[in-house]
Amino acid sequence: MLGNFTYCNPTKLYFGDDSLKYLGNELKKYGKNVLLVYGGGSIRKNGIYDGVMRILKDAGKNVAEISGVMPNPTVHKLYEGMETARKHGTDLILAAGGGSVCDYAKALSVSVNCAEDPWEKYYVRFEEPVCETLPVGCVLTMAGTGSEMNAGAVITNPEQKLKIGHVFEDEKIMPRFSILNPKYTLSLPVYQMAAGIYDIFNHICEQYFSGEDDNTSDYLSEGLMRSLLHSSRIAMKDPADYEARSNIMWTAAWALNTLVSKGKSCDWMIHMLGQAVGALTNATHGMTLSAVSLPYYRYILPYGLPKFARFAANVWGISAEGKSERALAEAGLDAMERWMKDMGLAMNITELGAAKDMLPDLVRATVILKDGYKVLDRDEIAEIFLRSF
Ligand code: NZQ
Ligand code: ZN
Repeated sequence: MLGNFTYCNPTKLYFGDDSLKYLGNELKKYGKNVLLVYGGGSIRKNGIYDGVMRILKDAGKNVAEISGVMPNPTVHKLYEGMETARKHGTDLILAAGGGSVCDYAKALSVSVNCAEDPWEKYYVRFEEPVCETLPVGCVLTMAGTGSEMNAGAVITNPEQKLKIGHVFEDEKIMPRFSILNPKYTLSLPVYQMAAGIYDIFNHICEQYFSGEDDNTSDYLSEGLMRSLLHSSRIAMKDPADYEARSNIMWTAAWALNTLVSKGKSCDWMIHMLGQAVGALTNATHGMTLSAVSLPYYRYILPYGLPKFARFAANVWGISAEGKSERALAEAGLDAMERWMKDMGLAMNITELGAAKDMLPDLVRATVILKDGYKVLDRDEIAEIFLRSF
């Protein structure tokens, strides 16, 4: 391990099928005015809304609501939420939903007292907040993003055709607490479950496929990937399997709570490509990643050959016997492709609504990062998108 780092993750997790009972104790730590944030209505159908509301009322809280936080939350929704949060004199933002709702709550946290336009400040200039921020708590209903235990908040600007993530530096932007009840994820449509599983898998890949140093993080990552593959196969056969869904939820948190990135470089180019697709199509996040993954990984494979060969052996259990390093590496991606197809993931961006005339916008919207095995130029990005249609 070659890198120097600081590690701090203050999010308190309550995990399990009884975890909501701890919400009441957490609420005691904050003032009276709670802003409950949720999405398009799934929590009203599956009873989570009623359960949370009962606890808020029992705790004597004065509750305002922001509903209709859409998947891939927009900057306009953020502006709307800032008004509501200010009028309410919010002491705590309580998010009840998936990654979009949790991200939105964090974006709101840094924006409510911000004197400038938050899009310009946080998503164009990438500055850190100087204003007072609001505490956030999460009741998670979908496993995937890791938003429940990190300081990331992704916001979409439809006019500018940009979807940008900001991972805030200050750990106080991470949720103060998150309630992780695997049972809550059982009402997810299978498409969303599969997208979430691929999102988790790719978060680990993004941190794994970079660097050549020997580091503990890569061994942790391989273990997380193997556990996820195992549970994903069970969950696809029987989505109601609590044990599998529970492991998937736990893996999601560890995949992106900053642990496995410590002491090493990370790639994140799949997310940059996928976010460009998301900005143009508004497609489901995990599917935007799956649709560009194989063209990207097959393109960079020659530049990171030893790691791709290690991935084949240690994650997919492929024997190296009789194979060149290159053949082993390619066999790993072939195995990954078979698994992705079994999962019903999007395998190209056409099925997500992308068309060839979007190519210039897709290339423009892709942020180029420099820590992967190959630093791409704009022509290479165009080539990878062309291979993804
Ligand atoms: O809006 P509702 O009605 O709640 O429906 C949602 C939504 O339609 C539904 N859903 C969630 N939980 C459910 C449920 N339906 C039935 N039962 C449940 N228990 O699922 C749909 C998708 O929800 P969403 O929150 O959008 O999904 P996800 O958790 O994948 O979040 C995606 C957002 O997170 C960002 C993505 O870019 C995207 O904007 N990300 C955040 C990251 C972070 N904070 O670190 C990292 C990720 O890479 C990602 O970029
Ligand atoms: Zn992701």
